[in-house]
Amino acid sequence: MQHSPDNAAAQPAASFADDILAGIEQAAPISGAEAIECDIAPKELPAGADLHGYRILRPLGAGGFGVTYLAEEDYLARRVVIKESFPDSLCYRQADTLHVCLNDPDNGTENYHWARGNFLKEARILAALDHPYIAKVYSYFEANNTAYYVTEYIDGLSLGELADDYARCGQPISQDALLGLMVRLLDALDYMHSKHLLHRDIKPDNVLITRTGLPVLIDFGAARESYGDLTPTFVESQGFTPPEQLRADGHPGPWSDLYALGATFYYTLKGKCLPPCHQREFFDKAEPLASDPRLLVLYAPAILRSIDKACRPLVEERYADAAAWLADLNESALAPASAQEIANASLPRA
Ligand SMILES: Nc1ncnc2c1ncn2[C@@H]1O[C@H](COP(=O)(O)OP(=O)(O)O)[C@@H](O)[C@H]1O
Ligand SMILES: [Mg+2]
Repeated sequence: MQHSPDNAAAQPAASFADDILAGIEQAAPISGAEAIECDIAPKELPAGADLHGYRILRPLGAGGFGVTYLAEEDYLARRVVIKESFPDSLCYRQADTLHVCLNDPDNGTENYHWARGNFLKEARILAALDHPYIAKVYSYFEANNTAYYVTEYIDGLSLGELADDYARCGQPISQDALLGLMVRLLDALDYMHSKHLLHRDIKPDNVLITRTGLPVLIDFGAARESYGDLTPTFVESQGFTPPEQLRADGHPGPWSDLYALGATFYYTLKGKCLPPCHQREFFDKAEPLASDPRLLVLYAPAILRSIDKACRPLVEERYADAAAWLADLNESALAPASAQEIANASLPRA
């Protein structure tokens, strides 16, 4: 791959996920959540809480299935990010012990165990990934009657924040910086897909840009094996999720992550989302990037056309895999930006 300066993509695909999942099947069964009458604490662990050798600094985000924390590792004094399994429709936090308890032990137990098992499965799969543009998973553990995994802390800004800054300041991302991000993120997806994994939730908020200008993919909560488990996720990030990921009879694959990546670059260039995919399938009102004169002044048409192609509503009109998209970029004979050039063009705020 001509445009993969830090290429770490070529990896054998054979039975990667199988090996990991075999280990999970042999793991000890997960114990049940405590079902005790008690006072309810806020969903997030408090600052200063001690967790398995880490100290919680503050929550970074909370969704329906979990909480993300900034934390510090006691011995190394390094910052990490910790993700906690917390399916909030099924459980609450006990005030005195901070343990996670089932709302209704008669009904929710099975789903709660499934959620926690699935979370640990995800952690084990991610811990085995090793790519410069995918946040590293250091470890995972059980505590407080729930499960956690610990990831590399990325010091920087999300691509969403940067895109909003570009739009606010009227200062667009340079072509070199854009190309540098595209090539590196495609390399990361090529690697993931070669392991038969799909990210399934690529969007500007899930791409962090380090202070040295490199992109890192985060938030693999929806990541699944692409060939072992083809079930759609039904969780939509509007303007980024492709249609086949939302339909019961859909067929998600590498092309689905590429749609979301294309939609992410669309947002980066236009400062707004593509219309939700269900509005695009029969009558697509989205203006192609390659026919926007303001963008054509700034970027090579081949780059704009490649993004348009990646996020076509119909699967058969898109790139089938990351290598095909990279090949199109290679053919356009444009050199990618170095990390330093990206850093200069898209400097995260101090
Ligand atoms: N590895 C990381 N390094 C730095 N910040 C992170 C990291 N992972 C997540 N964050 C921050 O925490 C926020 C929420 O985390 P995320 O994993 O995306 O969970 P969710 O979107 O499901 O709440 C992100 O938008 C980002 O700002
Ligand atoms: Mg996220």
